[in-house]
Amino acid sequence: MNMATSPLDHVSPETNVFLVDVIHGLRQAQKTLPCKYLYDETGSRLFEKICELRDYYLTRTEAEIFSRYLSNMAEHIGQDALIIEPGAGNCEKVRPLLQQLDSPAGYIPTDISPEILLAARAEIEALLPTLSVQAAVGDFTQKAFWNSFDCPPASKRVIFFPGSTIGNFDPEQARALLAIFTSQLQPGDGLLIGTDLDKDSVILERAYHDSEHVTAAFNKNLLTRINSELQGNFDLSLFAHRAFYHSLRQRVEMHLVCLRSHDVTIAGERIHFREGETIHTENSHKYSLNGFRGLLEDTGFQTVTHWTDRECRYAIHYAQVA
Ligand code: AVI
Repeated sequence: MNMATSPLDHVSPETNVFLVDVIHGLRQAQKTLPCKYLYDETGSRLFEKICELRDYYLTRTEAEIFSRYLSNMAEHIGQDALIIEPGAGNCEKVRPLLQQLDSPAGYIPTDISPEILLAARAEIEALLPTLSVQAAVGDFTQKAFWNSFDCPPASKRVIFFPGSTIGNFDPEQARALLAIFTSQLQPGDGLLIGTDLDKDSVILERAYHDSEHVTAAFNKNLLTRINSELQGNFDLSLFAHRAFYHSLRQRVEMHLVCLRSHDVTIAGERIHFREGETIHTENSHKYSLNGFRGLLEDTGFQTVTHWTDRECRYAIHYAQVA
């Protein structure tokens, strides 16, 4: 599909990119949709609900590790550090850390949504009136974005990347992203990053196929989004949520399974779905402690330490540029 001849009239360039990505993904032998499109307003709300589910242990476990080891983390980071948070969203996770740090030199939250970011910045400024906060709107996976804002002087820069977001990047993409991070840092600068750990497939699959069906609604909302933004006619009752652990690839895969052979039209383009075929919507990679350490070392970091919960479900790593 050619963007210049998009069949959708009067739509934003973002919507046209969304359309091109959707048609391209659904024309592959293994139909696929980029997971970033799961997060429209409804998807983001559903994701917040996922984070509160009993079955989804990641958010709760990460929060436990942070509250238990916060002062130790702050000691490692040290005085007068600048904290940069890619994809900060509502900046909720960083607040206790900023409060714990010794005279932080500043905080730079980044996000693609200016509305969310500006609201969050106002809240941080109210909480910590002496802290310099500079919001940067853009896509942190693009190297050029990092040159679009200036960093205030600091004893060191520390990139804060919690939430196991790195798990949604395939290993090659994760390596590329970590290399972008290193390129923005000097020797001695840091990275504080959360990763979900490899574990029993029953626990993993329950986290992504929860008993309250919130993850199913989150996954299927992608089809609702295509229907409303791209003039699609997906019948949601003809698709089912599926999540399974692929132990060789060390990842949970999320799919939408077609229950009956039929055609779907999106912006005038017809796509055929066979019974049983799937749309692959997300990967969530799980790391061993050593595996992630290797990835960090490959991209110019040296691991300083890590913290885990008692059951070793999740880890927060602190690494420095070598
Ligand atoms: C955002 N990300 C870390 C979540 C994860 O666990 O991979 C997204 C998610 N997908 C389904 N449930 C949660």
